Amino acid sequence: MIKIKNKAEIENMRRAGVLAAQVLIYIEPFVVAGVSTQYLNDLCAEFTKQHGAISAPLNYHGFPKSICTSINNVVCHGIPSETDILKSGDIVNVDITVILNGYHGDTSRTFMVGDVDEKIKSLVQRTEKALHRGIGAVKPGKYLYEVGRAIEKYVTKFGYSTVKDYGGHGIGKEFHEEPFVLHHYSINNKIRLQAGMIFTIEPMVCIGPNYDVDTSTTDGWTVTTVDGSINAQFEHTILVTATGAEILTQIG
Ligand code: MF3
Ligand code: CO
Ligand code: CO
Repeated sequence: MIKIKNKAEIENMRRAGVLAAQVLIYIEPFVVAGVSTQYLNDLCAEFTKQHGAISAPLNYHGFPKSICTSINNVVCHGIPSETDILKSGDIVNVDITVILNGYHGDTSRTFMVGDVDEKIKSLVQRTEKALHRGIGAVKPGKYLYEVGRAIEKYVTKFGYSTVKDYGGHGIGKEFHEEPFVLHHYSINNKIRLQAGMIFTIEPMVCIGPNYDVDTSTTDGWTVTTVDGSINAQFEHTILVTATGAEILTQIG
């Protein structure tokens, strides 16, 4: 069942979305060579708390930290650690989910650390564009699979591919609600978009054609590319409006 949010719920989701966006803006200057992902975790956790919200990842199905930090070949759900030190040339996705007044806001960005290889820089820039292609496909009356189709069409031009095993999701009082949002075309996403639906779009884009991923058997969370290649991701929480989409996790 896909929930249609009412006015009051949408207002709460806007507030949660803005705060999640603020956390990403806040953390950006700290994402530099030499810092640990644990340090980024602690800063984000403190900022979130100071703003009267809760970090949703902490203890979510046993996740041990307050944010996800996914470096290079890590696709998603990277666990912040004192021993993961960022170095020049790395890319790192910082994924923030806050709970404000009972409602979730979920957004992520891939940051570039120091001097990043041109090919990787392009991957990062185009992954952000791909997210916006997906957002551009959101319109009431259209099918959800248009989102995945737009993203796939854009990224495959460059020889990239999107991860198929993870996707975006409905969001509200729950972190993960229906629908499951695919970042490729699939008949499984033949769902009519309606004003008042809220979901995330969060393409994970692989630099090559191989999109296979593995989950760590050691920590049970860290998702990596099977071939060890680089992967980038951007995420926004989106509201379907009468005419298109409103990005809830964007300021201004
Ligand atoms: N924020 C992630 C998402 O975009 C989910 C992280 S789940 C966690 O859906 F448990 F790893 F935090
Ligand atoms: Co999400
Ligand atoms: Co997220």
